[in-house]
Amino acid sequence: MKIFRAIAEMHNASRGVRRDTLQLGLVPTMGALHEGHLSLVRAARARCPVVTVSIFVNPTQFGPNEDFSKYPRSFEHDCELLEKEGVNLLFAPSAEEMYSVGSTTWVEVAGLSEKLCGKSRPGHFRGVTTVVAKLFHIIEPDVAFFGQKDAAQHAIIRRMVRDLNLPIEIVICPIVREPDGLAMSSRNAYLDAKQRQQALVLSRSLMRVQEQFERGERDAAKLSVVGKEEFSKEPGARLDYLEVVDPDSLEPVEQLSSPALLAVAAFVGTTRLIDNVLLSS
Ligand code: PAJ
Repeated sequence: MKIFRAIAEMHNASRGVRRDTLQLGLVPTMGALHEGHLSLVRAARARCPVVTVSIFVNPTQFGPNEDFSKYPRSFEHDCELLEKEGVNLLFAPSAEEMYSVGSTTWVEVAGLSEKLCGKSRPGHFRGVTTVVAKLFHIIEPDVAFFGQKDAAQHAIIRRMVRDLNLPIEIVICPIVREPDGLAMSSRNAYLDAKQRQQALVLSRSLMRVQEQFERGERDAAKLSVVGKEEFSKEPGARLDYLEVVDPDSLEPVEQLSSPALLAVAAFVGTTRLIDNVLLSS
């Protein structure tokens, strides 16, 4: 695996791949890799002869009181995992390399970036779309792989790619969970044993709602109540939002006819966790 720290060198390497007319796959990450990330890498390997992974803890997607400085970083271990998966190229720039002094240009998907996590994390999705657009320009992948775990994020990235006519196919991979249902996340490392148990309320609430949906309930308000009731039984978790929305526009849905996204975010201690499920008959 070749590791690139400089934008120009990464760009030259991916240009070389494209000159050889090989399909280039990209898996953007912030590192602290787990099986969720590796499932994206495996999907990329299955699809593309050359795979690039990026590891960059992107400062512009963290709010001033968020966990940027303490975000888990395990670069050496990440490299070992990616080597084992047969990744060809790794892009791991510094913040100074990615954002030159005086950078003032943003990519913002208006109308979507204020929804779901965007409501309680103002500026978060603007940081995500800006860095992903930069990665797309630097690496010029044919296919990029994202996780369903961050359902709003991929809806926003899909919209950006469409609106800006970026010639990149976006592939979405399913959520990878721990055996007890907790969605894998780099932030799970923040949880102590008690919080780890309390965090199960996220996936449990989604399951309860899904059961009601499968019994025929199609009223979003009634479904939400079922999910919120589950949270009221777990004082260790503080619900941020539980919403039923359209998976593309992220607009609230009232009556479920086509597939709808049930998305949840909650604090367990100071750790903010998210999860979701697609409700479709
Ligand atoms: P990060 O949280 O590191 O996630 C990188 C990718 O892994 C995202 O597409 C995310 O949806 C996916 N992923 C995380 N946990 C997963 C799980 N349990 N199952 C399946 N996929 C999972 O998302 C980001 O980084 C950043 O916002 C980024 C897109 C890299 C931009 O900075």
